[in-house]
Amino acid sequence: MIRFDDSKNVFHLCTPETSYIIGIYDEGLLLNLYYGKRLPDNDLWYLSRRQSCASFSPCDPVLAPTGFSVDVAPMEYPTNGRGDFRVSAVSVLNSDGNTVTDLRYEGYRIYPGKPDMPGLPHLYVTDQSQCDTLEITMRDPYTNLTAVLVYSVFHDCDVLTKHVRFRNDSPVPLKLCRVMSSCVDLPEMQYDLVTLYGRHAKERQFVRRPLAHGLQGIRSVRGSSSHAQNPFAALAQKGATETTGNVYGFHFIYSGNYEITAEVDFNATTRILMGIQDTDFQWELLPGESFLTPEAVHVFSDQGIGGMSRMFHRAYNDHLIRGVWQYRKRPLLINSWEAAYFDFDTDKLIAFAKQAKELGIELLVMDDGWFGKRNNDTNSLGDWFVNRQKLDLGRLIDTVHAMDMKFGIWYEPEMISPDSELYRAHPDWCVHVPGRVPSLARHQYVLDVSRKDVRDNIFDQMRSVLDKYTIDYLKWDFNRNLSEAGSAALDSAHAQEFFHRFVLGTYELQDRLTTTYPQLLLENCSGGGGRFDPGMLYYSPQIWTSDNTDPIERLMIQFGTSLCYPASTMGAHVSACDRTGYATKGNVALWGTFGYELDPCKLDDETKALVKQQVQEYHKYYDLIHTGDLYRLICPWENPFCCAWSFVSRDRKETLVTVVRMRHEEQTLFHLKLQGLDPQRYYQLEGNGAVCSGALLMYAGVDVADSVDNDGDSIKLHFVAVDKPDTDERTR
Ligand code: DGJ
Repeated sequence: MIRFDDSKNVFHLCTPETSYIIGIYDEGLLLNLYYGKRLPDNDLWYLSRRQSCASFSPCDPVLAPTGFSVDVAPMEYPTNGRGDFRVSAVSVLNSDGNTVTDLRYEGYRIYPGKPDMPGLPHLYVTDQSQCDTLEITMRDPYTNLTAVLVYSVFHDCDVLTKHVRFRNDSPVPLKLCRVMSSCVDLPEMQYDLVTLYGRHAKERQFVRRPLAHGLQGIRSVRGSSSHAQNPFAALAQKGATETTGNVYGFHFIYSGNYEITAEVDFNATTRILMGIQDTDFQWELLPGESFLTPEAVHVFSDQGIGGMSRMFHRAYNDHLIRGVWQYRKRPLLINSWEAAYFDFDTDKLIAFAKQAKELGIELLVMDDGWFGKRNNDTNSLGDWFVNRQKLDLGRLIDTVHAMDMKFGIWYEPEMISPDSELYRAHPDWCVHVPGRVPSLARHQYVLDVSRKDVRDNIFDQMRSVLDKYTIDYLKWDFNRNLSEAGSAALDSAHAQEFFHRFVLGTYELQDRLTTTYPQLLLENCSGGGGRFDPGMLYYSPQIWTSDNTDPIERLMIQFGTSLCYPASTMGAHVSACDRTGYATKGNVALWGTFGYELDPCKLDDETKALVKQQVQEYHKYYDLIHTGDLYRLICPWENPFCCAWSFVSRDRKETLVTVVRMRHEEQTLFHLKLQGLDPQRYYQLEGNGAVCSGALLMYAGVDVADSVDNDGDSIKLHFVAVDKPDTDERTR
């Protein structure tokens, strides 16, 4: 619901449990009055601008005599150069050569549903009644730049989205230099900043640090969202835990350079902004042209970090992931990479498929090495035709399909090897700047997908394979960061648009692919989880989480990833890594889109039997894991010895608990306290038949110490709701 109260000049934006309040102040300034737990509508008179120390802080001549200054007010969309010295949301270079920007309120519009964002991934609704949208029009009276601030609130989940639509309504060109998608000004600083840092094979590691006066935050300037920092941040109230306390979650639906910046000012208030990173960003707006910022997602939970995660999970499962695979059961796959790398031929893959089929696996993915002359990673990216010396692709696919299995293939469309036919034909198609030799990473350059002619070439090449063969799944990889970021197609006035145009090019290509082949299951990947972001999830319902398949290392990665991403999106495979036994490898991989990454022909009989059992468990628990609520019961960043998580069905009638002993500790006895159950109900433990109340399971806990005594041990506990047992029976 969104309401405008014209007696108080406030907008009240509500989700079921949260309120976001914007006030129109004197002189058309827009104030960010409140974000948090839902407020009653009739109480809003109390909210006012902050009365803070504003010594030395200027303001426009009309407001200055009243003591008001934009420097200490909670600004909804702060502008550059007009006296708010905190980090600004927008800065525009005008034809006079300065970047002073000033946006004042002009009007608003409230309507059901959510506007489309052409070319950009965003949360969507299937029915107008699922959300409401507020558009507030702001205008700079001097430059005639119009900014429409767009807010949508959902009715079935506690999510608020924001983006901004700029339009140049002046007769001269303007240059956008900084355009954040969102700003939230909170009245205090008693928060910890939670972010997810990482690197290749160690993605999304949880880090929590107290806010301090000054600037802090995360960013990417790598051309993609990157392994280094996920475009996610949370502000957790001091003392907030997994289960208690106020937590704000911020997520940016974008796969390129971004920043999430928090600033604590001299009045101990906190401003947090999200948007495209402004290093190497400028965008020319000719008269009449528009620019759309990517979408920012906000959630607020008063039930700790766990509550925040579950809000993101529901929103992404229902409003971000699209297409036929959104709710359709994903096939259980086996991927050839760790089993064979580049060393395979048709018969070897057929042998994999035969053995995999016997184990109950449903999809064979042929990873890398099938095209051009690629037998190692030094060549052929860009030459997307079958390496016939190595492979009879038709025979392979026909054989796999004849076994009633699906077939998947690997591409890295945004890359080009210097040793490729494509590069020899079009050396200017790689990302580069004049006069400098492009840097190499993994022996490859980046292909300039900001150009339509380049995208057309790659797409046509992909089509010639996808049209000829029946391919059910496609893994889209991206294995380096961008340097010397420029395009031969952009003149110097537009050179700074390259990074954003590159991301838009990727989105356009993925959109073309998924629209042309709607049945294709697309899995994104970037050297593991280097582009695991909500932008990519708009096109592919699952992403390869990490190249690290060590089940113990994976725990930290999967726990971190789960902060904002649902289980249905996380590629998780059992590999030959011998850190633990297969049981634990399976228990850990079950958390995500389950699969195998090993040579099935090399498994001994005992392991094959275990794999068959895991396949059954995959089917048995699929719905619970993919549609249930996740509870992180013991997090590896809090306990280095043991971790535990559970999925609880939406009706709270079933839970699957997994506990993993990461390393041995002296004191092993502990009671694991479950979460999310109905305290009044009774639950039966599968296997031993014990029945206990939800209250007992949650408040007293279950003793699991004996079952996970040694390093790498793990157990699963499956509880299902049953009728209340006879009391006499239980007391006898
Ligand atoms: C990096 C990916 O993360 C791996 O899974 C694999 O696809 C390789 N690339 C192939 O080159």
